[in-house]
Amino acid sequence: MLKGKTIILGVSGSIAAYKAVDIARRLIRDGATVKVVMTSSATKFVTPLTFRTLTKQSVATELFTENSKSKICHISLSDEADIILVAPATANIINKTANGVADDLLSTTLLAADVPIIFAPAMNSKMYLSEATQKSLNRLKAFGFRVIEPTLGELACGEEGVGRLAEVDTIVEVIKFETAKEKDLKNRSVVVTAGGTREEIDPVRYISNRSSGKMGYAIANELTKRGAKTTLISAPTYLPTPQNVNFISVSNASDMQREMLQYFDKCDAVIMAAAVADFTPAEPVSKKIKRNKTGNFSLKLKSNPDIIKELGRIKKKQILIGFAAETEDLIENARKKIEEKNLDLIIANDVSKPEIGFEEDFNEVTILNKKGIVKKVPRMTKREIARIIVDKLVDVLD
Ligand SMILES: Cc1cc2nc3c(=O)[nH]c(=O)nc-3n(C[C@H](O)[C@H](O)[C@H](O)COP(=O)(O)O)c2cc1C
Repeated sequence: MLKGKTIILGVSGSIAAYKAVDIARRLIRDGATVKVVMTSSATKFVTPLTFRTLTKQSVATELFTENSKSKICHISLSDEADIILVAPATANIINKTANGVADDLLSTTLLAADVPIIFAPAMNSKMYLSEATQKSLNRLKAFGFRVIEPTLGELACGEEGVGRLAEVDTIVEVIKFETAKEKDLKNRSVVVTAGGTREEIDPVRYISNRSSGKMGYAIANELTKRGAKTTLISAPTYLPTPQNVNFISVSNASDMQREMLQYFDKCDAVIMAAAVADFTPAEPVSKKIKRNKTGNFSLKLKSNPDIIKELGRIKKKQILIGFAAETEDLIENARKKIEEKNLDLIIANDVSKPEIGFEEDFNEVTILNKKGIVKKVPRMTKREIARIIVDKLVDVLD
C-alpha cells in the first residue's frame, strides 16, 4: 500500500524515540522507502546505526555536511519525499516549527518542505498542556500540518496523563491514508475561482466585497497536491500565486465568466469559491468622476452574469460546487441555491459570525448535496476545510 512512496521520518529527542524504530519497520514492510532524519538529541536515545541497518538508507543528522548531490541536503531531502512524519515530535521541535526556527537539519528540512507534514507528539503532560505547546500545535494545524494527538496513559516520567506517543498502528494508518489520497485526482481537471470581483465605476474606483480569496487558494493548493490539473481563475487578492496551477488573473465578473467558459467544456469539475459581485455599474465611465455641486452622487447598477447558474444550465458531466455565503437562514438559502443553480454540492458558511468567513484563516461550513446535509464541518483552518471539500469532490467524481 505504501509502494513507491518515500517517507521522511524525523526523529526527535523523546524517550519514545525507540518507538520510531518500530514505525520505520512497519512503513518499510508496507513498501515505503524510509529516510530518517534525527536531531542531535534523538541520537542520544537511539543510534543512527539502528535506523541505517533497518532502512538500508543513510541517516541524516547534520545540517552542515558535504553532500555529493547537486542540491543541499535540507532542501533535497523534502524534494524526494511524498510525506514527512515527525515521530516522536518533542515539545522543542513543535515549538520551533510553529515559529519557523530552522537551526538544525530536521527543523530546516521542515521549513523548506512543500509536502504534507505530520507530527506525532510525545512528551510529559505538563509540557504538552503548556500554553506554549498548545499554541504551537494550533499554529501547526493552521499551517495545514496534521497532528496525531498523543494518548492518555502512564508516561516515561512515571506520571499519568496525556502525552504518550499515539499507537504505532494509528500512526501507520494515518500515513497510509494521507499518502493514498495524495494523488487521487490524477488525470482530473478542475477549475477553481477565488477572490472578490472588482466592478469598475471609473478608472480609479470600483465596487468589491470582503472576500480575501483564501478559501479558493487553499482549494487550488489542495487540488494540485492531489494531482489535479488545476486552473485558478482569480479576482484580485493579496495572496501569493499557488505553485503548479494554471493561474488566470481577472478583475470583474464578466472577465471571470469569459475565462470560465474557455475551460468549462474540458474540465471534470468547477469549484466556484469566488465572491462574484451580483451587480455592476450600469454605465462605467472612462474618466474619473468629479465632485459635483450638489455633493451627491448616485450610481446606477445592473445585474452581473450569474456565472454558476449558467454553468449549471449548460453542464454535461461536470461536477459543480458552489458556495453560499449567507448572513441569515443559512441552510434554507443553501438548499434553494443548490436546486436553482443545479449544483452537485454547496458549501454553506455563515459570514455574519466573527472570526470565521471573509478575510479570516478559519471557517466553519456545512456541506450539502441535493438530498440534504452531507457534513457539518466545525471551525477549522481554511486549509483543513479545503481538504474536506476536495475529499467530497473525490467522492462525487468516483
Ligand atoms: C531522558 C529524557 C527524556 C526526554 N523525553 C522527552 C519527551 O518525551 N518529549 C519531549 O518533548 N522532550 C523530552 N526530553 C527533552 C528533550 O530531549 C529536549 O527538549 C531536547 O532539547 C529536544 O531536542 P530535539 O527537539 O532537537 O530533539 C527528554 C529529555 C531526557 C533527558
